[in-house]
Amino acid sequence: MVHNSTSCCGGQKTSHAASEQDEPSRRDFIMLAAGALGGVGAAATAWPFINSMNPSADVLALSSTEVDLSPIQPGQSIKVKWRGKPVFVRRRTKEEIASAAAVNISDLRDPQSDDSRVKPGHAEWLIVLGVCTHLGCVPLANQGEFGGWFCPCHGSQYDTSGRIRKGPAPLNLPVPEYTFLSDTKIRIG
Ligand code: FES
Repeated sequence: MVHNSTSCCGGQKTSHAASEQDEPSRRDFIMLAAGALGGVGAAATAWPFINSMNPSADVLALSSTEVDLSPIQPGQSIKVKWRGKPVFVRRRTKEEIASAAAVNISDLRDPQSDDSRVKPGHAEWLIVLGVCTHLGCVPLANQGEFGGWFCPCHGSQYDTSGRIRKGPAPLNLPVPEYTFLSDTKIRIG
């Protein structure tokens, strides 16, 4: 008897609770409306903050670097800074271009043709990031067995196209995004 009575009351309580959940009460509606208003308020507050995160004009200007090519002599490589990183701008001699083009691409660790690493009609200019792809040292220009760059940290050697030829580095020196503004000026970035 005791068991039946407990079961009966428990069952009634359960069905009563379910009927309260099925029909949203006035209090639920008020809480929902307050939540929606809170969402609008949060969005209005967030907008000035998000807008302030857009880069300003001077920050955008720093994201690109213009380089005057006219003082650079054939065979010379200069180092410029772009977004805090060194970039090599190299004016290659005819011999350096020829030796880069003569390489059998299938022999390369990171197979890339020399053509694909320079702009059409501007083969004498090679623009690469000056950061060794092994552990990030800055390689030295016009050194090493391949006449390109030599990284003194662990001996990686790059050719006159900036491609890895020897040593522990896994990849070629990356070519950054750049454009020729004229025959004697480029913009990196
Ligand atoms: S960082 Fe250049 S070879 Fe190790």
